[in-house]
Amino acid sequence: MKILVTGGLGFIGSHTCVELLNANYEVIIIDNLSNASIDVLDKIEEITSKRPKFYEYDVCDKVKIGEIFKENKIDAVIHFAGYKAVGESVSEPLKYYRNNLDSTLTLLEVMKEANCHNFVFSSSATVYGTPKELPIKEDFPLSTTNPYGTTKLMIERILQDVSYADKDFSIIVLRYFNPIGAHKTGLLGEKPNGIPNNLMPYIVRVADKELPILSVFGDDYDTPDGTGVRDYIHVVDLAKGHLKALEKVVNFKGIDYYNLGTGNGYSVLDLVKTFEKVNNVKVPYKIVERRPGDIAACYADPTKAYEELGFKAEYGIEDMCKDSYNFILKNKERQK
Ligand code: UFG
Repeated sequence: MKILVTGGLGFIGSHTCVELLNANYEVIIIDNLSNASIDVLDKIEEITSKRPKFYEYDVCDKVKIGEIFKENKIDAVIHFAGYKAVGESVSEPLKYYRNNLDSTLTLLEVMKEANCHNFVFSSSATVYGTPKELPIKEDFPLSTTNPYGTTKLMIERILQDVSYADKDFSIIVLRYFNPIGAHKTGLLGEKPNGIPNNLMPYIVRVADKELPILSVFGDDYDTPDGTGVRDYIHVVDLAKGHLKALEKVVNFKGIDYYNLGTGNGYSVLDLVKTFEKVNNVKVPYKIVERRPGDIAACYADPTKAYEELGFKAEYGIEDMCKDSYNFILKNKERQK
């Protein structure tokens, strides 16, 4: 089967390409390199001994995307490409709405014209807003607190309408919780440009003394130790979830939604302490004000993905901490 992966050189996209190639899918990547490096293609090849076909195109470019579908008989699309920085989306909402919506609409139009109807979409637990209770189930009410999240929710609505109007479409929406970790080889991982916004990329840089101290955003939440609780999931587990979704998407019609998480909540301090222990490093931190827009706790009920897709996350928080740090250390060695 030929799978088109948009944003295939990004953090989650690249790990998914590795799993697809290992499972003998043919992989075609589109990435405009706006938040990824071309070296990732070599790394994917180094791990799998296979080099996916690569197009350095923008998914918003309908003519070019149309050409890809003419040149290749594509069976399914996994759509990762999109802007994802929450803070930037607040200061530059138009950029987010234009890019994230336009790319998805373009892709769906081209797919319809090319008679390809199998679509897996990267959504996010952010669509649950402030959850009414925990753990979060797929049928909970949806709302958002920033433009990035709203683009995800708007795309979910668009997909629902497309599925209603065109019964040929098969759509799986995957709502990710907090992906961290890296490939065991240390060849693939998360490399944000500039100062990281997310917790794990920040921790690894503090551990590595590139940044002096971690700011913990609030210790007065209604959680066991007062710091924010999240459902961290190893990126390799998350990648494998996409293969499970693909198996379903080619065998059904309509639209369905799945949480991809572990079901376990860990606090900021749990993560810091585990990271220090398994990597034998210090992560100095200070408690500061809450970050605006953050919720106290968020973790998945992973039952639906387990029962219907056969998906279960295998890695624990210790592996996630080890692999995240290993990626940074290996990366430094390569740069020497
Ligand atoms: N945190 C800190 N210090 C930091 C960074 C984060 O204390 O320097 C805390 C946050 O307050 C939060 C936790 O660490 O309690 C996790 O924060 P992240 O920024 O790593 O992740 P979020 O849960 O805020 O957001 C992530 C993704 C979003 C996605 C959301 C959906 O970044 O894209 O999960 O659940 F929308």
